[in-house]
Amino acid sequence: MKLLASLLMAASLAASVLSASAAEEKPAAGHGAAPAAAAAPAPAAAKPDLTAGEAKFTAMCVSCHGAGGNSGTPANPKLAQQHTDYIYKQLQEFKAGKRPNPIMMPMAAQLSDADMKNIAAYVGSQKAKAGFAKDKELVATGERIYRGGIADRQIAACAGCHSPNGAGIPAQYPRLSGQHADYTAAQLTGFRDGARKNSPQMAQIAAKLNDREIRAVADYIAGLR
Ligand code: HEC
Ligand code: HEC
Repeated sequence: MKLLASLLMAASLAASVLSASAAEEKPAAGHGAAPAAAAAPAPAAAKPDLTAGEAKFTAMCVSCHGAGGNSGTPANPKLAQQHTDYIYKQLQEFKAGKRPNPIMMPMAAQLSDADMKNIAAYVGSQKAKAGFAKDKELVATGERIYRGGIADRQIAACAGCHSPNGAGIPAQYPRLSGQHADYTAAQLTGFRDGARKNSPQMAQIAAKLNDREIRAVADYIAGLR
């Protein structure tokens, strides 16, 4: 599996290098997209339907996640501006029970694959409302952990993956900035205690954080922008 994966990666890397150089050779042709498309024929993935996503979201999700995915309830996460791949992954994993949650499992069970993609695209396109840190004393500890980790306990800096401003990296690391501190703290506790099992990477990091550190970093994240 690993070998196959790295072969595939090497192949797609080679393809993108090829298509990049093909594009470079004909910069003035005015058909920039054509050579790249020929080099890497993508399967005709259906484009997400934002209007359908909004309609489904309004019918099923807005009561908890707020208008445009800007939840005003601390236990319910803000979804606005979150990366679409991350939202889609979570919905799939709620449905499959990989992220067990008594509220979200039955919600996700009612969604088709297309619904998930459409909703993810819709909330991802919405602008997130900023949040605020609340605890002046804790927030300094939170900032230290977020930006630098805790070296002597091998706790990696959150910023290293989630980026210094908490915007994350699409398809890899979710956006965290402005998220409700209660929700963030609950997730970190869940990763630590094994209630949320869908990320070995986060479980390993959260395993080393104590309750106070979790509250501190969650408070800092709420005010990040
Ligand atoms: C009754 C309230 C409620 C409804 C309705 C609801 N949610 Fe949720 N949602 C929650 C709660 C609470 C969580 C946090 C679960 C946890 O702690 O893991 C959550 C988590 C999520 C997450 C994970 C976010 C993240 O940052 O990881 C996504 C995605 C999500 N909901 C999407 C939806 C969608 C799409 C719908 C509609 C089809 C929906 N929710 C309907 C309450 C709700
Ligand atoms: C090595 C990379 C990496 C580092 C370092 C890292 N994270 Fe993460 N984090 C991830 C990944 C990957 C996910 C997505 C997990 C998933 O797909 O469910 C994630 C998810 C999360 C989530 C869940 C977001 C949500 O909306 O539910 C929180 C909260 C979080 N990380 C906080 C932190 C904090 C706080 C730190 C620093 C103490 C940290 N992370 C360090 C990779 C990392």
